[in-house]
Parts: sequence; C-alpha cells; structure tokens
Amino acid sequence: METLKITVDKEHPSIESLSEAIRLIKEGGLVAFPTETVYGLGGDAKNPEASKKIYAAKGRPSDNPLIVHIHDFSELEEIVAEVPESARKLADAFWPGPLTMILPKNDVIPLETTGGLDTVAIRMPSHPVARAFLTESKVMIAAPSANTSGRPSPTTADHVWEDLHGKIDCIIDGGSVDIGLESTIVDLTDEIPTILRPGYINEKMLSEVLGQVRMDPGILGVDKNVRPKAPGMRYKHYAPKGDLTIVEGDRDKVVLKINACVKADLAAGFKVGVIATEETKALYDCDTILTVGERKNEDTIAHNLYGILRDFDELGIEKMYTESFDTPRIGQAIMNRLLKAAGHHVIEA
Ligand code: TXA
Ligand code: MG
Repeated sequence: METLKITVDKEHPSIESLSEAIRLIKEGGLVAFPTETVYGLGGDAKNPEASKKIYAAKGRPSDNPLIVHIHDFSELEEIVAEVPESARKLADAFWPGPLTMILPKNDVIPLETTGGLDTVAIRMPSHPVARAFLTESKVMIAAPSANTSGRPSPTTADHVWEDLHGKIDCIIDGGSVDIGLESTIVDLTDEIPTILRPGYINEKMLSEVLGQVRMDPGILGVDKNVRPKAPGMRYKHYAPKGDLTIVEGDRDKVVLKINACVKADLAAGFKVGVIATEETKALYDCDTILTVGERKNEDTIAHNLYGILRDFDELGIEKMYTESFDTPRIGQAIMNRLLKAAGHHVIEA
C-alpha cells in the first residue's frame, strides 16, 4: 500500500488540505494525525473493519482497546450507557485536552473497537488539526498512538512514517506535537475515579475537580501480582532496543555513578549513551550524550523523551543511562513511561 503524506498548517489547517484524509477515513481507511499528546492512528470508531485494520497495522494485540476521539460532548452522550456527573465536570474542566475518560458503553461502538470490553475510552483532543479532522469528517475516530506496538509513541510525522509507511493510507503532518506523552486516562466506572495512566492532567488537577481520586494500584508497581487495569499498561511498552537503566539520587552522586557505569560498559565493548539535561550534560564523560530537556522547564523533558529513545535506537546504542525526573507537575507521567522503557531497572547512586 502506498501511504499518502499530507502537510497541513498546524494552527490553521484548511479544509481543502484535509479533504483527501477526510475521504479516506469516511471510506474505512487508516489516517494518522497529530494530537496535542502524540500522533494517533485513526479509523472510523463505528466501523469494526477499520478497527481490525488498526490492530493489524500496529501489530497490536486485539484485546487492547482503542480510544474514541470526539469533537463535541454530544458524541460522548451518543456512545455511553449513562453520563455521570463526574464526566460533565471533567469535560468542563479539561476538554478539549489531554484527558481520556472510561465509561460504560452502549451498542453504538462495536466490541472490535473496545477490545471486547463493555466500557469505552473517550477523549476530545485540543490540537487544531485533530479538531478540524474530527469536525469536518463528522466521524468519531478510534485512535491508538501511531507507533508499531512496543515502540515509543510518535511525536512527529517522521516517527509515524518510520513505523507505519506502507501499512496505512495516509499521514497528516502537522509538525511536532506539544506535550509528547499520551493522555491521562481516568476510569469513571469505579466508585472512586481511578487514574489508569498518568499524564499531563495530573492527580492534583483531577482531585480539584472530582474530590477523591486514586491511582490504579496496578501501575504503581508495588505489588507485582496486581495487574494494571488498562490492558495497554500491562504490555512491555515504550521500549528502546538497548538496555536502559535509571539512576536515582542526589545530582552529583548520580553523575558519578553514571560516569562509572559508562566507563565499565565501554571497557566491556558496548555502545553506550546517556540521557542528560541542559543542567547536567557537560558533566558526563561519554561519546553519546543526548539532552532530553531542561529541569527548570519540565514540559521540555516530556516533549523530547520519546524522540530521544528513538534516537538511541537509530544510533544502535546497547546500554543507556538516565537521570530520574520526579518533577513537580508531570514527573509522575514521565517516570511511568521511563520505568516501563527501563523494564523497571533502577539503581540508587
Ligand atoms: O494521548 C493519547 O491518549 C493518544 C492519542 C492518539 O489520543 N492515544 C493513545 O492510545 O495513547 P493508546 O491506544 O496507545 O493507549 C490507549 C490506552 C491503552 O493502554 C488501553 O489499554 C487503554 O487506553 N484503554 C482503552 N480503552 C480502555 C477501556 N475501556 N478500559 C481500560 N483501558 C482502556
Ligand atoms: Mg500506545
């Protein structure tokens, strides 16, 4: 299959520039598009054949449900069994934006889209291109992240191209995304709203709107016998090809520890890389030092993380070391992704 690449204006995409993508999605085709979090691989959420094609293109297990993207709250009402007050409050506070809600479904969205579950994940993205695509096509779009299953989520159209060209109909290139980590997922089917995946909308922001909120015990990694509730959080994910180790502790000790590990790995003949920050990059002694962002501007770290993991793959790096990023607002989301990428391999400096 030939994959069509369309370049659009990120802030003001014209309807003409999107017309071919709109035609393809209405016909049951697959179209990757930018959102404010990561690029999504879209198909018509009501069309079971389109959902099957999404799973095939990504190599994704078919029990891992897709998120349905909408542009108006009335579409949520159309696809859920009931609308709890909590969903209205969250939508008022955070939609359009990087928040996904899980609610009981009715029969409008087929089980192929929800991985066989009787609940449905719904999100109203804020990215101008995603909004124009949803509004103009009038299609509710099922979209997982537009990466091959197991690779870091794509934050540029080039990442999508790397993984999926030849397997999907179209990629809408709207430049680099803003946030760089996937949406926060909150499950409203439990008595206490539960965060199944941390993201830019953090626990504090949610609890200011809902009162009590809890983290899914399955994603905290405290008890290995408790599985994450979101099927996608159970799989090995966001994994670079090399071995990634997170080094925790005081900054100076972390630098010393990483430099010692790098030295030992180089002596053993490995290709080694370090994930550094603007504040620390000059302190490492290694050929391959990639700067993920600035600690004093934590959004930059979220924004660049997945791109950096892909860069290490491209460079053929076998052993990687990173500092830890427990930053105040988005640190929980960054560390959730980083821990998965590292297979929970953490050492104390
Ligand atoms: O930011 C995002 O959410 C991006 C953009 C494209 O919107 N999408 C995204 O989709 O990250 P995906 O498929 O990569 O991740 C969806 C996650 C998976 O972990 C999946 O298991 C979970 O949401 N999920 C979807 N429906 C669910 C449901 N009904 N119950 C529990 N978890 C669900
Ligand atoms: Mg994904």
